[in-house]
Amino acid sequence: MEIMLWRELLEPYGMAVDELMLKFTQVRDGYRKRGLYSPIEQVDGRLKTISSILDKVQRKNIEIDHFEEQLDDIAGIRIICQFVEDIEKVVEIIHDREDLKVISEKDYITESKDSGYRSYHMIVLYKVHTIDGPREVKVEIQIRTLAMNFWATVEHSLQYKYDRDIPDEIRERLTNASDAIVILDSEMSYVRQEILDAQNSFLLEANVVSDILNNIQNLVRYSNKREIKKIQDEFFRIHKTGNIKDLERFNKELDIIAEGRRAQSLEE
Ligand code: GTP
Ligand code: MG
Repeated sequence: MEIMLWRELLEPYGMAVDELMLKFTQVRDGYRKRGLYSPIEQVDGRLKTISSILDKVQRKNIEIDHFEEQLDDIAGIRIICQFVEDIEKVVEIIHDREDLKVISEKDYITESKDSGYRSYHMIVLYKVHTIDGPREVKVEIQIRTLAMNFWATVEHSLQYKYDRDIPDEIRERLTNASDAIVILDSEMSYVRQEILDAQNSFLLEANVVSDILNNIQNLVRYSNKREIKKIQDEFFRIHKTGNIKDLERFNKELDIIAEGRRAQSLEE
């Protein structure tokens, strides 16, 4: 056995986790900035600790020199969605990305594990650039709903507490809870459109309000105080009515005024 320099060995995996967490967060923010519903609700990531690598190597009888080939989850990313339907969309996004090469997939949603565990798993290859040059590393991506994540987190803590030997009575409770999660996710899917509409109009309103305030701020350069005050009062009045269509119309008017003022100031 060679002397293992853990810090160097794990460095590219740590980089992959950092970069992919940022990239998936950017996907989420990309949707939201455009006022669209994001299929990604939350992104988590972790680098497997050396101690848990050693545990797994021992448990699975893996030769320590081959741990990198044998372990798929040294780098782990978890993507949490609100609805089951979002998971498909995220899988599609991952397939379409040129910086990720999917090497395997496991669908524990269509067919849950005996434990009751549900999630969609993908192993992908991702290239990082260390100071020694480029390295392609494996990353395990787990995609699941908020509800599935709740179950998996609780069950994982219990596995830890009972050293992977959860008593039958608790196992049965967990199985029941897992069945309840299936029902919860499917009930939420029924009301999904209602929720999406509400979330979208919330996002839309936030974006229009931010555009209007931006416009007002720009107008300060070209208009007198009294006029700005009038515009602002009008904004508050419309905002109070909560009518997004009116806010959008008001914003268009401001666009036109701002455009006119800019043109005027260029001529002067
Ligand atoms: P591992 O040796 O656990 O990696 O199993 P595997 O190589 O057969 O892959 P699998 O897809 O079964 O599991 C990969 C990962 O999914 C695990 O490391 C866990 O994070 C998660 N997972 C799988 N099964 C369960 C489960 O029953 N409960 C919980 N809480 N998580 C699970
Ligand atoms: Mg595994």
